[in-house]
Amino acid sequence: MVVILGASSGSGETTVRLLADKGAKLVIASRREEKLRELADSLEGCTVAYKAADVVSYEEVKAVIDMAVELYGRVDVLYNNAGIMPTAPLIEGRRNEWQQLLDINVMGVLNGISAVLPVMVKQHSGHIIATDSVLGHHVYENSTVYCGTKFAVRAIMEGLRQEHRMDNIKSTIISPGNVATDLYQSIQSESARQAELDFRMPYARASRF
Ligand SMILES: NC(=O)c1ccc[n+]([C@@H]2O[C@H](COP(=O)([O-])OP(=O)(O)OC[C@H]3O[C@@H](n4cnc5c(N)ncnc54)[C@H](OP(=O)(O)O)[C@@H]3O)[C@@H](O)[C@H]2O)c1
Repeated sequence: MVVILGASSGSGETTVRLLADKGAKLVIASRREEKLRELADSLEGCTVAYKAADVVSYEEVKAVIDMAVELYGRVDVLYNNAGIMPTAPLIEGRRNEWQQLLDINVMGVLNGISAVLPVMVKQHSGHIIATDSVLGHHVYENSTVYCGTKFAVRAIMEGLRQEHRMDNIKSTIISPGNVATDLYQSIQSESARQAELDFRMPYARASRF
């Protein structure tokens, strides 16, 4: 069975639909409960449960994992996909956005890992996946803080692999390039928004989910 955090839109939603088609048992979560309900209702003949959860809250993430264990007795895969991308030049000093980036993109992944690891260690099996980014491998100007969060995700997932390989727990990152999703709507900086439109979106449109 698969738990997906950040399932309500974009790549998370697409993954839910793909796995549902293949008959996977799913627990899906993110903040917008209505979107989750609509998604779950649209998946006919599929075993899917949903729960509203903010990945910033360890308690809410733990409640999702607890729900999965209660329903299915185990968690085979946790997909940490939740993320935001409010890019901006450093000089704009958007410290609230930086904090949100750290809380969601980094602590969100850690909360997922922390909630599911005891379950997987006990099972002596499991697979934790996180959506990283090309920007977790290369730094681009105006995306500095977002890049920092995705570099952190890559480091954390590598550390997870090293620490738990003997527990039969796999660690995988997915590093997409530009994909046309709602992610770009989190950009508040006018200059960064224009830069995305000019440079990145042509590539993103070509790879729309
Ligand atoms: N699009 C790209 O070009 C691109 C490229 C590389 C990597 N990525 C990564 O791909 C992942 C998915 O993004 P996307 O492109 O599919 O964008 P998206 O459509 O905006 O999806 C983001 C998902 O994360 C969830 N989310 C955001 N904050 C959350 C929170 N605090 N708690 C729980 N869920 C939260 C959103 O759901 P709610 O709003 O309902 O909470 C939504 O389901 C992100 O990690 C992003 O960094 C995207």
